[in-house]
Amino acid sequence: MTDCQADGSGNMTAMDLYESLTSQGELVRTLKTEKAVKADIDAAVKLLLKLKADYKQVTGQDYKAGCPPLESTVLEDTGPAAAVDGEDMVDPWNVSTTSAKGVDYDKLIVRFGSSKVDQELVDRIERVSGKKPHRFLRRGIFFSHRDMHQVLDAYEKNKSFYLYTGRGPSSEAMHVGHLIPFIFTKWLQDTFDIPLVIQLTDDEKYLWKDLSLEDCHRYAVENAKDIIACGFDVNKTFIFSDLDYMGASPDFYRNVVKIQKHVTFNQVKGIFGFGDSDCIGKIAFPAIQAAPSFSNSFPQIFKGRKDIQCLIPCAIDQDPYFRMTRDVAPRIGYPKPALLHSTFFPALQGAQTKMSASDANSSIFLTDTPKQIKNKVNKHAFSGGKDTIEEHRKYGGNPDVDVSFMYLTFFLEDDEQLDKIRQDYASGALLTGELKKRLIDTLQPMITAHQERRKQVTEEMVLKFMTPRPLDFNF
Ligand code: TYM
Repeated sequence: MTDCQADGSGNMTAMDLYESLTSQGELVRTLKTEKAVKADIDAAVKLLLKLKADYKQVTGQDYKAGCPPLESTVLEDTGPAAAVDGEDMVDPWNVSTTSAKGVDYDKLIVRFGSSKVDQELVDRIERVSGKKPHRFLRRGIFFSHRDMHQVLDAYEKNKSFYLYTGRGPSSEAMHVGHLIPFIFTKWLQDTFDIPLVIQLTDDEKYLWKDLSLEDCHRYAVENAKDIIACGFDVNKTFIFSDLDYMGASPDFYRNVVKIQKHVTFNQVKGIFGFGDSDCIGKIAFPAIQAAPSFSNSFPQIFKGRKDIQCLIPCAIDQDPYFRMTRDVAPRIGYPKPALLHSTFFPALQGAQTKMSASDANSSIFLTDTPKQIKNKVNKHAFSGGKDTIEEHRKYGGNPDVDVSFMYLTFFLEDDEQLDKIRQDYASGALLTGELKKRLIDTLQPMITAHQERRKQVTEEMVLKFMTPRPLDFNF
C-alpha cells in the first residue's frame, strides 16, 4: 500500500472523521498563528489527537493531510457489476439472464442503487423542456437514473450542463443497439441545447481485444462517421479518440492521474472483477472512461471550469464505470456526474442477452442491406407466436417475449399504432409473419436513411468534429 491508500473499511465514518480532522487541524494552526490563549490551544490539540486515534481505529491507517480515505464502492452504489447466484449478469462485457422477457430491470435498480425513471420524472422533463418526451422515455427504455432531478433543479435556475457518452470501437460496423444511446443523446442535445462530448475508447479495445492499435484507431474514425450520421451539430459536439486526445490534452491527463491516485486495485477488482492475470492497462483504464465526466478535462470548451454538471446517457452495462466515477468525484473536488440508463436492445435470438457485435447472427448491423435485414428478421428473430396459425388465432401470441415486437417498441414512433399491434398480436388477430413484416418495413427505411446520411459524412467533417476547439457556448 502507498502512503495515500486506506483499505476502504468503514467508509462513511472514515470520511466524516477525515473531514473533521482536516478542519480541526486548520483550527489548531490558526490558534497557534494568532497566539491564542494556551488553554484554547491545548483543548483544540487534545480534540485533534482524539480524532486521529479514532481515525486510525476506523481505517487502520494514520491520518495524512491531503490523502482522504478511500470509500469502498459507497453505500449508494452497491455491489459489484457481476451477478451473484440466480441473478441477471450485467457488466460492461456480459449481459445475460435466464428470463425470455429479458433482464429484470427493477431488480437491477435496487442492486445498482440507482433510481427509477418514473412518470413524475418524465412529466418533469416535459415541463422543464417544453417538449414531448422522447419515445425512449415514454416507454421506459431509459428506465433508470442517478441525480436527474438535481440536473433539472439546476437547469431551472439557468445552470447549464453538458452531455457525455461514448463508444468502444471494436469493429468497423456498429449494430442497431449501439444507436440507442446516440439517438437519445441527440434528442437531449436538441432539447436542452447543451454541449456534448463523445469518447471513442480505442485504447480500451486495444487492451481488451486481439486488435492492433492502428486498427482500433481506424475503427474509431469509422465509428465516428456512424455517430455523426445520427445528426449531431458540429458546433456543439466534440468527438475524440483516446489515443489522440490523451496525449494532446494535459488537462485531461491530469484528471486521469488524479482519479488513478484515488482508486485502489481492490476497488476496481470489486467493481470490474479484474484478476491477477489481467494486464495493468485494463486496471488503469476505468480512470480514462471516468475523466470526461469532469468539465475541466475539456478546457477548450469549458474554459477551465470544473463545476459544470455532466449527464451521461448510456445503457446500464456502463454503470460500473460511473459508480466508480461518482465515488471518486467528491474526493477530488468535482461534481458527481448524473446518469440516464437504458435497457438493452435484445439479440435477435431473444432478450436473454443483448445485441452484440461479436455474434453476427444476433445483430442487425448499420451496414446491412434491406435483403439482409429481411432475412435476419425472418430467420432469426425469436417469436412469441404459437406453433400453428390455428393455435395462434385461438390463443394469441406473447408480445413480452417476441423480439420483433420488442424492436418495434424502440423504433415505431406512434404510440397508438404500437398499442394496437400489441393487442392484435396478443389476441391472435396479427400473425408472427405479419408482425415481422411490420418490423422489416420499419427497419429497412431507417437503416437505408442512416446509410445515406453516412455517405454524406466526409473526412473533413470527421476531422472537424474530432479537433479540440471551442464550441458554440459561453462558459
Ligand atoms: P460500447 O461500444 O460497448 O457501446 C456503446 C454504447 O452503446 C450501448 N450499448 C447498447 N445499448 C442498448 N442495447 C445494446 N444492445 C447495446 N450495446 C451497447 C452502451 O451502453 C454504450 O452506451 N466503454 C464503452 C465506451 C464508452 C462509453 C462512455 C459509453 C466510453 N465512455 C460513456 C457510454 C458512456 C463501450 O465500449 O461502449
